[in-house]
Amino acid sequence: MSQRGRLITFEGIEGAGKSSQIAPLADWLRARGLTVITTREPGGSPIAERIRALLLDRANTGMDGTAELLLVFAARAEHLAQVITPALTAGTWVLCDRFTDATYAYQGGGRGIDPSRIAVLEDLVQGALRPDLTLVFDLPPALGLARARGRSEPDRFEAERLSFFDTARAVYLSRAAADPGRYRVLDTTRPFGEVSAAVTRSVAALDERCA
Ligand code: TMP
Repeated sequence: MSQRGRLITFEGIEGAGKSSQIAPLADWLRARGLTVITTREPGGSPIAERIRALLLDRANTGMDGTAELLLVFAARAEHLAQVITPALTAGTWVLCDRFTDATYAYQGGGRGIDPSRIAVLEDLVQGALRPDLTLVFDLPPALGLARARGRSEPDRFEAERLSFFDTARAVYLSRAAADPGRYRVLDTTRPFGEVSAAVTRSVAALDERCA
């Protein structure tokens, strides 16, 4: 039987530069003979992408916080069932743009939902599955938002006030500090190449094929 794949998640507030690091890492891993898929949350499967559209639509401003939380986990359940779990079982490495740490940061920090409630849904939807490595791309929220808002019309989350992202960032950093074995925090005010090098260094520790 093939060895289980690895789940690597990319996290950070808007404009932190996480998404642009995924494709280079996928190429780097494939060059080492690994099978890799890249995906994202919310989304990553047909039904989950439809849920994503509901979550990001600014017409849904005022959505109830519990409804938002449940939609995020409904999308995740679909994504896990259709994409992530089969891939990991087949030995494929999964690079996922956001995962459950985003729920702790945005629904927990940003919206103020008690993390113990999020943990209940995490266990329900994921069982024992947790990422093998979580990369937290970090920068001051004002800088990240200026970058993100310069790219496109803000979605329902990007339109939030700055304090929402300050809280989300604080949650990411405190979760990373509490579990240094799983998380790496990367300062994305540094040049792109330096951040990429830090990404590959972090991933290399996961498997001897990457050394
Ligand atoms: P992005 O994929 O363009 O970063 O946008 C996804 C948005 O969804 C982002 O603002 C963060 C938000 N989000 C949550 O609020 N909770 C979650 O669990 C996830 C995965 C994303």
